[in-house]
Amino acid sequence: MSTGSPSSLASTKRRLTHVASHLRTPKLKVVVCRDLGPNVMPLLRDRPEIDLVVWPEDKPCERPWLLENIRGAAGVLVMLSDKVNQELIDAAGPSLKVASTMSVGYEHVDLPVVAKAGVRIGYTPDVLTDAVADLTVMLALMASRNGGEAVSLVQSGGWPSFSWSPFGLCGPQISASPFSPKRTVGFLGFGRIAQATLARLVPFGITHCLFTSNPSSTADPAFEAAIAAKYGVQVRRVGLDELARESDVLVVLAPGGARTHHVVNEEVLRKMKKTAVLVNTARGTVVDSDALARALREGWIWGAGLDVVEGEPNVTADHPLVKEPRAVVLPHLGSATIETRLGMATLAAKNLLGGLGLEEGMPAELDVKSRA
Ligand code: DGY
Repeated sequence: MSTGSPSSLASTKRRLTHVASHLRTPKLKVVVCRDLGPNVMPLLRDRPEIDLVVWPEDKPCERPWLLENIRGAAGVLVMLSDKVNQELIDAAGPSLKVASTMSVGYEHVDLPVVAKAGVRIGYTPDVLTDAVADLTVMLALMASRNGGEAVSLVQSGGWPSFSWSPFGLCGPQISASPFSPKRTVGFLGFGRIAQATLARLVPFGITHCLFTSNPSSTADPAFEAAIAAKYGVQVRRVGLDELARESDVLVVLAPGGARTHHVVNEEVLRKMKKTAVLVNTARGTVVDSDALARALREGWIWGAGLDVVEGEPNVTADHPLVKEPRAVVLPHLGSATIETRLGMATLAAKNLLGGLGLEEGMPAELDVKSRA
């Protein structure tokens, strides 16, 4: 058996003293709104300092259960569907120190309210960037190449009556070609995921990149030049009008919330090219669903790839967008790879432990004050 170095012995001793002092003090109540699975739950279950309460069912946590169980809690780990608002903070009482969300988005967190209550917020940036960028590209391809229509044709037994023909089920090509040498991707919102999407689209033959970002941020030509040099495409920050007019693929990657509500509306959609596709892997509220359904029905644009729809998950088969053959609609799967969800769950658990003071710092704390 290894006896360990003096410094590791000292650190073990410090940890044991820390645990012992917690054992003498009352346990910290922590509520978890969804079981995080066998790889991640032990991070919380094995902590002697914690009294863990976990929503027992494999479906979204019911609000009355959460409001009842959060009373006296020091921490809570929530999903996108659990609102962190005045009601929750009042139900928890002054003991609540931290709310950790297993998501990069935080529209479900009332920032002014948590800032006032002094509750720290953990979230999960970075770990999901690649997965969401991958799915964004998948939707861009599906929407341009009639993926939705083609899959349902085969599934409904229609292939025998669809024979290969010169232009049957053709769609616009994402890659540049002699017939369309300039291919432009436009990003509404140009953060980490948008840039990772650009990195993936360039090898496909995208030649130009336009982006529109937070109107309050100042123009930064050096940033544009750096992105252009990094990816080998022309890059320009433009206004929404130009973004709509020039993009062959228009990707929505802006945060949700009041500031971006229905930014993609009838006016924007009418300016887009008839051969353009719209992809939304951010938040459903950024796009006006009725206007988009009309744009697809009346051929203002070619197609749409949507991972998010306003009002989800209540998006049923009779939803105007689901009924559109040129819309490929997925049930919010952007981050749904096994590796990414493990990363998100682990980070959410670590943020919680850090916010409770049981680990050193929160690895990804939201700067609530600057955003409130
Ligand atoms: C997030 O994390 O905000 C995504 O929308 C869910 O993966």
